[in-house]
Amino acid sequence: MEKNIKNNRVRHYLADTDLEPGEILKVLALAAKIKKQPQKYRAAFKNKTVALLFEKLSLRTKFTLQIGVHEMGGFTVVNDGRIPDREPVADIARNLTRWVDLVAARVYSHSVLEDLARHSEVPVVNALSDLYHPCQILADMLTLKEHFGDLKKIKIAFVGDGNNVANSLILASGSLGLNMAIATPKGYEPRRQIIARAEILNNKSGGKFSATHNIAEAVKNADVIYTDTWVSMGDEKDAAKRREDFKNFQVTTKTFKQAKPNAMFMHCLPKHPNEEVAEEVFESARSLVFEQAENRLHAIKALLFYLLSSGGKVK
Ligand code: CP
Ligand code: NVA
Repeated sequence: MEKNIKNNRVRHYLADTDLEPGEILKVLALAAKIKKQPQKYRAAFKNKTVALLFEKLSLRTKFTLQIGVHEMGGFTVVNDGRIPDREPVADIARNLTRWVDLVAARVYSHSVLEDLARHSEVPVVNALSDLYHPCQILADMLTLKEHFGDLKKIKIAFVGDGNNVANSLILASGSLGLNMAIATPKGYEPRRQIIARAEILNNKSGGKFSATHNIAEAVKNADVIYTDTWVSMGDEKDAAKRREDFKNFQVTTKTFKQAKPNAMFMHCLPKHPNEEVAEEVFESARSLVFEQAENRLHAIKALLFYLLSSGGKVK
């Protein structure tokens, strides 16, 4: 489980719970405003520079960060490769602090993000780690709000691996009061600490969480079925075993027969053909996947604006 980062001077966004529920809602409202009138924000990041450190491949996260900062008048610098490469993480953070206004990093180990954050005097954003993918879930919550309205009335069923995307969805659902159920094969459940944290969040928000190995049980009465890859980046060495263990966890038209009649389909992307989702579902009118992808741009703009600003205004 991740360590508690204590750096009072700056706000980092390493996990979904680094924003209070009210702050998440503010960022979502801002994302909706930016989506409607992007031109109003085209100078919001004037003279701002954002460093992007990517240890793993990315299409959506890297491009929406770059396009988003650019469309708001800022500038990005990018480094692809392992962190640390030639020097300790602490030194990388203390260098970047002198040059840029924010760092976003995609890492294998969440502890690298924590080290960056501990030594950074500018906000550090998790662009995906082995533990969480909070930028994805902001876009997903925006997509859910657009489609359904009241988040507290949604039941979302995650079918698949208890991975980074599932963990973030569990925490954000707990913060915002959704009803979330997850169905995983045995041995792929979310970590106990995540479930314990979700329980605390749900007690405050009125949300619900349940975990099962039974897909029918998880998707019963669901408004949304969400899935993700069976083999996350970093899990490639176990790919063959995972494909075998997950073979009965593909989301198909049959899976939707057990959910609400108008249930929608979500996936963070990229999809893996003939694995976690059947083409007939992915390509169907139920599929919100490209709305999610579009909203990555609006959500990341809003998040960065929030982290770089005080009281909603860029300094
Ligand atoms: N969903 C997502 O994060 O996509 P990328 O890996 O392409 O950034
Ligand atoms: N769980 C996937 C998400 C990719 C966006 C991974 O970590 O590879």
